[in-house]
Amino acid sequence: MRRYLIAGNWKMNNTVSESVNLAKGLVENLKDVDDRDILICPPFTSLYAVSQVIRGTNIKLGAQDVFYEEKGAFTGEISSLMLKDVGCEYVIIGHSERRHIIKEDNETINKKVKTALRNGLKVILCVGELLEERESGKTLEVVKAQTVEGLRDVNADEIRNVVIAYEPVWAIGTGKTAKPEDAQEVQSYIRSILKDIYSPEIAENTIIQYGGSVKASNIDSLMSMPDVDGALVGGASLVLEEFVRIVKFQKF
Ligand code: PGA
Repeated sequence: MRRYLIAGNWKMNNTVSESVNLAKGLVENLKDVDDRDILICPPFTSLYAVSQVIRGTNIKLGAQDVFYEEKGAFTGEISSLMLKDVGCEYVIIGHSERRHIIKEDNETINKKVKTALRNGLKVILCVGELLEERESGKTLEVVKAQTVEGLRDVNADEIRNVVIAYEPVWAIGTGKTAKPEDAQEVQSYIRSILKDIYSPEIAENTIIQYGGSVKASNIDSLMSMPDVDGALVGGASLVLEEFVRIVKFQKF
């Protein structure tokens, strides 16, 4: 049985005090939720302070990126060990903003995935097509390449600590959500890729999230799809009431 995972990616938003306030609100409003996992991914500068607020609660902590080397002269970068040290259990890798704005390629992303897993972090690997790729019928091809290359040399034990987030780039921060059926089509395809690379059992147990303009008003229909096991939420995760309602989704 897959356990649903709702994650908030705060991106480059919130000072330490804003982060602490939001985290306190989430702790208060979500304390009774015990049948699904809840994750928040504040910016690096807020991780430690937020970890103190959510310690011992049902809310888990994640980072938005990590570097692929373990330590040393890499000015400005943050290692897996540092993330674990401030209480992170998860890290998002390969988010489309890093792929397309920072120009990270599949090889870099794969190195990050392997280093994070080796150091005991759980990874949310993001995949998703651009609008022109969707319009030219390349969605499945792009998603397959990102999945296969992102997971290269990740073994059958390590894959159990990987979540895949399908995030069509044209739906991120645009207000355009993929139709639940479109998310379902791509996410069941991702599951079939995992079956080919690993095994039916692993494919069946891997959590596949949808991300891209998830809101309180569309979460229930998205979560009603059989291969949507959670959501990676950007903008709406910054608004307390919205994120609380998203976490408390109800399937049709
Ligand atoms: P959005 O972002 O919910 O603001 O569209 C999603 C994401 O980038 O993870």
